Amino acid sequence: MTQATPADAMQAMAQPIRFFHRGQIVEVHGAAGTRSVLDWLREDARCTGTKEGCNEGDCGACTVVVGELPEQADPGLTPVRGLSLRTVNACIQFLPTLHGKALFSVADLQQGELLHPAQQALVECHGSQCGFCTPGFVMSMWASCEQHQAAGERPSRSLLADELSGNLCRCTGYRPILDAAERMFELPPQATDFAPAVAALQAMAQGPALDVRDPSGARFVAPRRLDELARVLEAAPQSRVLAGSTDVGLWVTKQFRALGDIVYLGEVAELKRIEEVDGVLDIGAGASLQSAWRALAQRHPELAEMGLRFAAPPVRQAGTLGGNVANGSPIGDSPAVLMALQARLRLRLGARTRELALEDFYLGYMKNALEPGEFVERILVPPPAAGLALRAYKVSKRFDCDISALSAGLALELEGDRVRAARLAFGGMAAVVKRAGQAEAALIGRAWDEAALRDAQLALQHDFTPLSDMRASAEHRRRVAANLLRRLWLETRPQGALPSSLTRVFPVRAMN
Ligand SMILES: Cc1cc2nc3c(=O)[nH]c(=O)nc-3n(C[C@H](O)[C@H](O)[C@H](O)COP(=O)(O)OP(=O)(O)OC[C@H]3O[C@@H](n4cnc5c(N)ncnc54)[C@H](O)[C@@H]3O)c2cc1C
Ligand code: FES
Ligand code: FES
Repeated sequence: MTQATPADAMQAMAQPIRFFHRGQIVEVHGAAGTRSVLDWLREDARCTGTKEGCNEGDCGACTVVVGELPEQADPGLTPVRGLSLRTVNACIQFLPTLHGKALFSVADLQQGELLHPAQQALVECHGSQCGFCTPGFVMSMWASCEQHQAAGERPSRSLLADELSGNLCRCTGYRPILDAAERMFELPPQATDFAPAVAALQAMAQGPALDVRDPSGARFVAPRRLDELARVLEAAPQSRVLAGSTDVGLWVTKQFRALGDIVYLGEVAELKRIEEVDGVLDIGAGASLQSAWRALAQRHPELAEMGLRFAAPPVRQAGTLGGNVANGSPIGDSPAVLMALQARLRLRLGARTRELALEDFYLGYMKNALEPGEFVERILVPPPAAGLALRAYKVSKRFDCDISALSAGLALELEGDRVRAARLAFGGMAAVVKRAGQAEAALIGRAWDEAALRDAQLALQHDFTPLSDMRASAEHRRRVAANLLRRLWLETRPQGALPSSLTRVFPVRAMN
C-alpha cells in the first residue's frame, strides 16, 4: 500500500463513489475498494430482488445491467438511446468501478402491477419455478430486448440462447425460458426512458476521476487517460491492476484476499480501441473479450465458435483480452490462439514501451515478464500469413460458460501440399500455455499427409507432461491433444478436407 499523508487520506476519503441508480445520482462514502456491487445492492440499497447464487460469476442470479456513455464504453456496444448497456455479474464487480456509470437491477423494472415484457413472457411461458434464477434471467432478457428493439431486429433463438448462456436454472429447463425470450418480442414494447440516466452521466463526466482510499487506507484509483494510468502505476508499482474483474473478483469472493491498492484501467477509453494499422490488428488491452474476439473472428471466421464458448455475455462484456493474457492461466482460452497467430504484446512502463512475442511472456505458472509498474497496453496480431490454415479448439464438459480442460490454437502455413511453418499452441497441457516445438518440427517441410500427422502426434507426447486434475486426467489430455491434431488434419488436408460441420460435436450457434 502507498504511504498517504494524513491530508491525502482525508481528501481521498472525502471523494464519494458516484453513480446513477433508480432515478438519481447516488454517493457512497468510505466503501472498501473490493465491496461488491451485489453486496451494496442487497445490503445498502436493499434491492434484494437481485440474488446471490455462486458468488463467482457462474450462475447469473446476480445479473445487473451497467449503462455508460458511448464515448466511455466499449466501442463494440451499440448504444440504446444514448446509453451503452452491458450485463455484468454484480457479485464479482467492485463498487468503485460503477463511478460515473448507471446501474440497473431488477428493481428498476418495477411499475406497480405492470410487468415488463421480459417478466410477462416468463409468466406466460412457464419460465420460472422456484424463481431464484429469475431476476437474473429477467435482466439478461431486458438488456436483450432494449438492444434488439432499438436496432429494429428480432433475434434468432440461437442468438437468444447465447445471450442467456450466463444464466443457470436448476428447476425449469431452458426450453420454456427460451420460449419466453422469443415471446418477449411479440408483446407490446416498453422502451425504457434513458434520458435521465444520460443526463446524470454527462454531469458526472465533468467531475474528477475517482481516486479514493477506504477506511483501511487502501487506494482505488481510476485514471481516465493512458499516460495518467502509466504514471500512476509507475509511481505505485505495488498496486494491483484491475480490468474486468472476472478473475480478480474471485480472489476476493472465493479466496478472501486483500488486494491492497488498486489501479482500475476500465476508464481509459484508449485501451478499449481496436483498429487495423498496416494490416496489424491492434487490440487495446482493455477491449472486452466480446469485442476483441469479434474482431479476431471477423478476420478468421474459424475462431467464431471459440468466441461463443468463451465464458458467457456478462463475463465476455466485462472481462478484457488484456486481462486474459496478463492473468496467464494455463487454461485461459486466448493465449493459445494468439500464439498460433504470432501475436505480440506492447508493454508499457511510464513513458517507455517495449514489444514482446506473446510466447515469450509466460515465465512459469502464473508468472509473466511484466516488470513492477508495467502493464499490457496492446495486443498486436500480424496480418495472416499466405496459406494459413487456422483452427481453435476448446475441450470442456459443457458448450457454454465452462473452463477448458484443454484448448488449442493451431496454425499451419501450407505451400501446395507442404507445411512451410507450423505453430501448435496448447493450453491445459503444462504450467503455462505453450507451443509444441517437437510436434511442429515433425511437420515443417513435410507433405501434409497422414504419415506426417502420425509423427506429429507421437512427437506431441514428448512436448508435454500434463497433470491430472478435476477437469481431466493426464492421460485424457494427452489423447485429446493428439486427437485435436487429427481433427486439424481432417479439416485442412490437401485432399478431401472435411468441413467442421462433420468434425464438430456441438450444433452450430449464431454469434452476437
Ligand atoms: C464465469 C466465468 C467464466 C469464465 N470463462 C472463461 C473461459 O471460458 N475462458 C477463459 O480463458 N477465461 C474464462 N474466465 C476467466 C476470465 O474471464 C478471463 O481470464 C478474463 O479475460 C480476465 O480479464 P479481466 O479483464 O476480467 O481481468 P481481471 O480479473 O481484472 O485481471 C486478471 C489479471 O490480469 C491482470 N491484468 C488485467 N489487465 C491487465 C493489463 N492490461 N496489464 C497488466 N495486467 C493486467 C490483473 O492484475 C490480474 O492479475 C471465466 C471467468 C468467469 C468468472
Ligand atoms: S451470484 Fe452467481 S454469478 Fe453472481
Ligand atoms: S426457477 Fe428455480 S433455479 Fe430457475
